[in-house]
Amino acid sequence: MSSARTTIFVCVSCRLPIDGNESDFEKPGSELAAAIEAHLQGAGASGIDVRPVECLAVCKRPCTIAFAGQDKWTYLVGGVDAKSQAGEIADVAQRFATSEDGIIPWKERPLFFRKGVIGRVPPQTYRITEKAE
Ligand code: FES
Repeated sequence: MSSARTTIFVCVSCRLPIDGNESDFEKPGSELAAAIEAHLQGAGASGIDVRPVECLAVCKRPCTIAFAGQDKWTYLVGGVDAKSQAGEIADVAQRFATSEDGIIPWKERPLFFRKGVIGRVPPQTYRITEKAE
């Protein structure tokens, strides 16, 4: 098990249109970050930070989050439902934190993670000889 810290970045600038109206929107990122934090505390998780961020450059897929950790792949995930998926995000973060390299097996990924991954970036120490799925 890795002891490296994990960070969940949560975009607090994402605009979620209300009733499909682009000029009328909410910004649910702060609420999402607080809900993730509450789920992590409820689960007794440690070593996982929830950190608000201004923009992750995926503004068309609100809400956007990222999972990052030392020596792990970083995952950028969009289209997160702030009202219903905080618990699943907290669960993924715990799996991410305890994984060797940040890669979570496909069958263990909740739907938001399967459908929402926009990209992943290897750790700085990555070399092509390492196995990634
Ligand atoms: S405003 Fe959230 S990714 Fe840009």
